[in-house]
Amino acid sequence: MESTAQSFAPSLPQIQNPLSGPGLFRHGDSAPTWLVQATKPVRYEVRMVDNLLDPTREDLALAGAGERTGNRRFIVLDDRIEAHYGARLRQYFQAHGLRPHFCVLPAEERNKTMDSVAHVVRDLNEFGISRRHEPIIAIGGGVLLDIVGFAASLYRRSTPYVRIPTTLIGLVDAGVGVKTGVNFENHKNRIGTYFAPSLALLDKTFLTTLAERHLHNGFAEILKIALVKDFRLFELLEEHGPALVASRLRSRQGEGDVAQEVLERAVQGMLEELQPNLWESNLERLVDYGHTFSPTIEMKALPDLLHGEAVNIDMALTTSIARRRGLLTLGEQVRIGRVMRSMNLPQYHPVCDVAGLAAALDDTVRHRDGLQRLPLPVGIGAACFVNDLTTDEIRHALDDLMAGGLDGE
Ligand SMILES: NC(=O)c1ccc[n+]([C@@H]2O[C@H](COP(=O)([O-])OP(=O)(O)OC[C@H]3O[C@@H](n4cnc5c(N)ncnc54)[C@H](O)[C@@H]3O)[C@@H](O)[C@H]2O)c1
Repeated sequence: MESTAQSFAPSLPQIQNPLSGPGLFRHGDSAPTWLVQATKPVRYEVRMVDNLLDPTREDLALAGAGERTGNRRFIVLDDRIEAHYGARLRQYFQAHGLRPHFCVLPAEERNKTMDSVAHVVRDLNEFGISRRHEPIIAIGGGVLLDIVGFAASLYRRSTPYVRIPTTLIGLVDAGVGVKTGVNFENHKNRIGTYFAPSLALLDKTFLTTLAERHLHNGFAEILKIALVKDFRLFELLEEHGPALVASRLRSRQGEGDVAQEVLERAVQGMLEELQPNLWESNLERLVDYGHTFSPTIEMKALPDLLHGEAVNIDMALTTSIARRRGLLTLGEQVRIGRVMRSMNLPQYHPVCDVAGLAAALDDTVRHRDGLQRLPLPVGIGAACFVNDLTTDEIRHALDDLMAGGLDGE
């Protein structure tokens, strides 16, 4: 970390504070003032690997390790990962001469709470982690990664951690960015931090055991990237979507490497948007597409709707709004609707009513510093931001969705 501190008024004589390092200055007048400035570079690697648990691979054994890391590892596991991969994980660490400690968490949206964060912190304490040399390794879905990232950012003010996503949402979204957090009093992700992992390891072979509904759920976030910035990705989903689900994104003979291309485009697109705006100082974020109404919809409908499903309802709503504004054609709207349908993604849920959606928009406006900054698709593969959405537009779009959805089928 580089840091400097200097006087607010450079015209006054500046006296170096004898207690400070170079660059920290103090005025000689009666109201001393200091200006402290620091910049902390963020740098982390997102690496795609296949068969992470193959004992001949070193990625996991070396993940987050430095010269002074011993052979202990602190690993937080999603309980489904423990059930499906617990034995292989133990064999893997044994093969590398490592001593893992597993902290297993039931990880689903309803457990995304401060209690789960406290559970991890308690275990870290008992383990007696050495925060400079022993990384926390999180293996699981988006919920687990959000909980562990948050715990890591709080534990002794920050302890390095590694993200290993095991769901599709994790691979293309929750596993690759810097946001952490948990829900609070029925508000989605109400408390959280920006805390980059030291490494993210993306292994799509974990998808083999993922329930099909969760695969569809992950495709909603991929569709989001396609709709706002990647027409080619949309075409791939249109042509191969159901086959990609059926193959669990493993490349099949004759399919070329469509699965790989879809994943790489989704991750690349996501990172292109996140990297220049890691702390979200610019509130016009393309990746907020589908995330205007959905936080409220998701929490109201819990446990009925998954995150990506709520995002999809938001995208269906805003696609209809965009079409009614002439930003995309009816033909384009129908194509989008068909892709959503082919992926089993809902376009409507009974918790959606006009008043509730208007209130959801108000809540989002508060988080976007007083403006809607609503991303709307422009054709397929581009987007714009608007600040003048009306309740009537929400009503008409909702009517469309209730009357058969974007493709009217
Ligand atoms: N931090 C971010 O930037 C970010 C981005 C997007 C989403 N999110 C968050 O991610 C969460 C959604 O994540 P999710 O969709 O991964 O849901 P999830 O974490 O609830 O996982 C879905 C289910 O799959 C199970 N599971 C995980 N991996 C498995 C595997 N390989 N095989 C079998 N079962 C497995 C989990 O135990 C869980 O029951 C939401 O809370 C959302 O807010 C965070």
